[in-house]
Amino acid sequence: MSVLVTGGAGYIGSVTVEALCAAGESVVVLDDLDRGHRGALVPGIPFYEGDVGDASLVKNIATSHGITQVVHFAAFTSVPESVEHPLRYFDNNTGKVVRMLTALKECGVENIVFSSTAAVYGEPEYTPIDEDHRKEPTNPYGLSKYFVEQILDRADSAYGLTHVALRYFNAAGATATRGEDHRPETHLIPLVLQVPMGRRTHVSLYGADYPTPDGACVRDYIHVADLADAHVRALRYLKDGGASQKINLGNGKGFSVREVVDVAERVAGVKIPVREEPRRAGDPSILIAGSEKARSVLGWAPRYPELEGIVRSAWEWHQAHPNGYSGQ
Ligand SMILES: NC(=O)c1ccc[n+]([C@@H]2O[C@H](COP(=O)([O-])OP(=O)(O)OC[C@H]3O[C@@H](n4cnc5c(N)ncnc54)[C@H](O)[C@@H]3O)[C@@H](O)[C@H]2O)c1
Repeated sequence: MSVLVTGGAGYIGSVTVEALCAAGESVVVLDDLDRGHRGALVPGIPFYEGDVGDASLVKNIATSHGITQVVHFAAFTSVPESVEHPLRYFDNNTGKVVRMLTALKECGVENIVFSSTAAVYGEPEYTPIDEDHRKEPTNPYGLSKYFVEQILDRADSAYGLTHVALRYFNAAGATATRGEDHRPETHLIPLVLQVPMGRRTHVSLYGADYPTPDGACVRDYIHVADLADAHVRALRYLKDGGASQKINLGNGKGFSVREVVDVAERVAGVKIPVREEPRRAGDPSILIAGSEKARSVLGWAPRYPELEGIVRSAWEWHQAHPNGYSGQ
């Protein structure tokens, strides 16, 4: 009985593999390394370099390792890229999942934990956003994930393949050994930290006139180790016969872009210049998760809720890995 982790060479996937191993699970990783890193793989874990849309490879892995559960991280994750190349996103994030699920169903896999996103909600009608909030994704990335949620519902009704779809808000931070290395980087905390690392002269603030206390957008940052812990719990929940669920994963607290910069200045001990730019289309002013369901269904609570701790863990990782995973 093993767990297949797709996208286990990526940011959240590799930290989750670490957590699953620490929890005593037997793990196998499938990743095409298109956007992941060999250096992020946990040593000693069986690794297959390949595509989740390759049904015969998925079947091979599932049968030879006795896979009963899957955590599916593998996806493209950039909102702007999805706007430019929507078909690429629907193919990789949705179409290939249909092929993978077909293979998994034939091999008797029982449960799947799926990486969904706050982007399924679109423009918030109210905040904190709970799981029943209207789903109206405003970009192809969010839609590609929302399609999968709906496909998973049908796979449950028809074949009894149960799932937990975890809708993450903003993943951030690092463990002692694994951190964030997206290329190109689009996430705020690593971008801000590139200034004290000497790789960027300033941080762009897109929109300084939002209806928030300091005019900057507010987001909910969740430590990657807390995300990983929720996956371990979701797998146990499903193994114990739990019904399919959609569950938000966030801190339940919002921090503005300016607050993130202030904290990063404190942590790195240098001034980080901010340049105000026009708003970007489709950026909601405030995104904060209602995370009651994660607490009640999974017994989960964030262990690293403080922004300073999240930023400090990222800073320590970036200092120890100034070129990310390059050369590892
Ligand atoms: N980072 C965030 O803040 C965030 C927020 C919400 C949701 N998510 C979701 O979490 C998941 C992981 O995100 P991440 O930040 O770790 O991204 P990442 O790019 O670091 O990891 C994704 C991994 O999937 C692999 N991959 C992509 N397509 C593949 C395919 N067809 N076959 C095999 N491997 C493939 C990549 O090589 C990469 O290693 C994604 O599904 C993403 O949509 C992330």
